[in-house]
Amino acid sequence: MSVDQAATVTDDEGRAWPIREAGASALVLSEEDSECLRAVALGVAARHASRPSGLHLDDSDLMVDCKLRMLRDGPESLVQALTEFRYRSNPDGALLLRNLPIDDALPPTPEQGNFDGDWQRLKVASMTQLAVMNILGDVISYADEKAGRIIQDVVPVAGAEKRQENTGSCFLELHTEDGFHPQRPRFISLLALRPDHERVALTLASGIRRSLACLDGGTREVLARPIYRIRLSSSFVGDREDVYAGPVPVLTGSLSDPDLCVDFHAMTSDDPEGRRAIDSLRRAILTNLVGHVLAAGDLLIVDNDKAVHGRTGFTARYDGQDRWLRRSFAVPDLRRSTADRMPRSHVHRRIFTPGTDHAVHRRPMFSYE
Ligand SMILES: [Fe+2]
Repeated sequence: MSVDQAATVTDDEGRAWPIREAGASALVLSEEDSECLRAVALGVAARHASRPSGLHLDDSDLMVDCKLRMLRDGPESLVQALTEFRYRSNPDGALLLRNLPIDDALPPTPEQGNFDGDWQRLKVASMTQLAVMNILGDVISYADEKAGRIIQDVVPVAGAEKRQENTGSCFLELHTEDGFHPQRPRFISLLALRPDHERVALTLASGIRRSLACLDGGTREVLARPIYRIRLSSSFVGDREDVYAGPVPVLTGSLSDPDLCVDFHAMTSDDPEGRRAIDSLRRAILTNLVGHVLAAGDLLIVDNDKAVHGRTGFTARYDGQDRWLRRSFAVPDLRRSTADRMPRSHVHRRIFTPGTDHAVHRRPMFSYE
């Protein structure tokens, strides 16, 4: 896959798929609303200033404070848009927010995948993101990935250019986030601190609501069968490429408004009909791409049940000024996963233990090839 000047993605067979500009339907915060949100973020940060960075901001009191202050003092138009998206989503399954406040003086883009400095150096961006996510749901993370950080850094890492994960810089294939995980996130947020140097890295999304009309009834029926397996991401299992979750269906729930869980890089099926249906779905998804080069202060929210996401390729320079996004996840109900987390923690326990042949978890059943 590649991207050309006219904002199209070209697949391996040479066919170009156009990308609609997501900015056209973005919610752009006014200067007044942006300053209002900055004040909310700074207020929360000040009340939690003694919180050590080592806790990765994993604290229920902080989340309660974020939600309370956002509801009480945050920009009403933003709270309304987030609440509507939470209840109804939209045809693209993605909501782009622009002109969000971030910190004036940014540290260099971290080289090894994680920002390990004092969180207060990114207090505006961090609390802004948590304020937004706490309106959408309950913030979570995973111990397997980036040591359970509540806010994770998405940066290119030297040597990982070809990896199909957040550290890579080649075309990132469209996927459901952590589709293999029994408690996958409902909402993903990506807050940009820096774009790539050439400003060509388009963050992509595509919604099942738009794609469904491109699929015939037989294909939908096959996609609803539990005949698919998803390989666990390398960010969870390292170099192992033989750990799978499933079998699972791709489409679940309402026939007219289904939820989607798919990964065009890591999903397989032993059933030829299943593979044909995935190919049809991929064409439908590519027909309905939206994309945007995230600039500083842009925040993209993806409904992980209604849309897949990906990214076009870019060239990293590893000079401290590379593309830097910050990511966080939310679920509708934290208490559904109480057994999968330590008491009072928002971090899910490991589902995979390196060096063993067994995933340490009650669900799902993983298999090994
Ligand atoms: Fe992703």
